[in-house]
Amino acid sequence: MAKPLLFTPLTIRDVTLRNRVVISPMATYSANDGLANDWHLGHYARLALGGASSIMVEATAVTDQGRITNGDMGLWSKAHVAPLKRIADFMRSQRVTPSIQLAHAGRKGSMQRPWHGNGALTPADLARGDKAWDIVGPTSDPIDAGYIAPKALSQSDMQTLAGQWGDAAARAVEAGFEIVEIHNAHGYLVHQFLSPISNTRNDAFGGDFEGRTRFPLMIAEAVRAAVPKGMPVFLRVSAVDGIDGGWSMDDTVAYARALKERGIDLVDCSSGGLKGPATVARIKRTWGFQVPFAARVKAEAGVMSMAVGLIVDPHHAEDVLQRGDADLVAIGREALVNPSWPQMAEIALGRTPAEAMDDWPVQYGWWLKHRETTFAQVRRDYGDDWRA
Ligand SMILES: Cc1cc2nc3c(=O)[nH]c(=O)nc-3n(C[C@H](O)[C@H](O)[C@H](O)COP(=O)(O)O)c2cc1C
Repeated sequence: MAKPLLFTPLTIRDVTLRNRVVISPMATYSANDGLANDWHLGHYARLALGGASSIMVEATAVTDQGRITNGDMGLWSKAHVAPLKRIADFMRSQRVTPSIQLAHAGRKGSMQRPWHGNGALTPADLARGDKAWDIVGPTSDPIDAGYIAPKALSQSDMQTLAGQWGDAAARAVEAGFEIVEIHNAHGYLVHQFLSPISNTRNDAFGGDFEGRTRFPLMIAEAVRAAVPKGMPVFLRVSAVDGIDGGWSMDDTVAYARALKERGIDLVDCSSGGLKGPATVARIKRTWGFQVPFAARVKAEAGVMSMAVGLIVDPHHAEDVLQRGDADLVAIGREALVNPSWPQMAEIALGRTPAEAMDDWPVQYGWWLKHRETTFAQVRRDYGDDWRA
């Protein structure tokens, strides 16, 4: 049987991913003052033992103000580098390419953690120790009634902020990350500038497609310029808003072309989130419902893409790659259920356990490989049913 594409390496600039499975960025809202702690080390170590080629550390704020919640990670100061470096170093020790997503919440900042309600901070949150802060956005319109009104960014604020994206990217490099991703999706700041629904500015940074993409492209340029030439830069889009009159798939294709010209290597295709909490489903869910977005970006903009969302079956992930719909597949929640998803996927796609387990961390693989011999003997002598 031919080697599955899912387990074929991919080289982007100077980085070679050992397979095509990436763990999707998933915020855990468990930091204090943006600093990674033992939770993050344990969580990312658990994932790092599972065989993915790369793990994308969760949305990490480029400024203090750019956090979604009090628990977001950050990279706005030198102090944030060392605790993230432990995580990146551990990933590398397991042959995982460390990646990190840089983010700014914009008008979706100063909110509750999802499990506290996903809305604006309440007195109960403040009593719990959370703090509220002033937020910014493309305009002074809040996301919805009942949310804090942001301050509209001035043109000089935008210059400063683009520089802060670059500074955070440089700190990510210092922390040992080998790929950075710009969080341009889910209704956070960059997406707020792109969508005509949230960007109603009437200066050079609003209006038509060119105006609305101006600040997002400044950020892409700032991040690209801040990291080494050999380092891949990814960008996650909400390919569609799923709201009438919003950002469309045609816009995404045009934007992806502009990003490619600026040295963005791969577009990670998610969707939605512009209004209300990120968990509101405006686009009908089905298996791999966002794969067609990744396919169009790849085919029409000629830029690499990553598919994500409700891909749980290894054969489905392989099929996405075989059809040429994406270059990488990101696995999110399924990796929380089973951090060994990539390792087990390789076996599901035809590699024998004994061979596959040679590539697992030796502390597990050596024993499990030998257990396979015991399994074979027990099955031969007694069958599969322990009752028999
Ligand atoms: C707990 C959790 C946190 C998430 N945090 C982020 C995040 O920080 N950045 C981001 O772009 N997407 C985030 N997402 C979205 C995931 O990266 C992914 O796109 C989504 O879960 C769909 O993929 P799945 O069906 O494989 O889980 C998060 C999802 C979950 C479940």
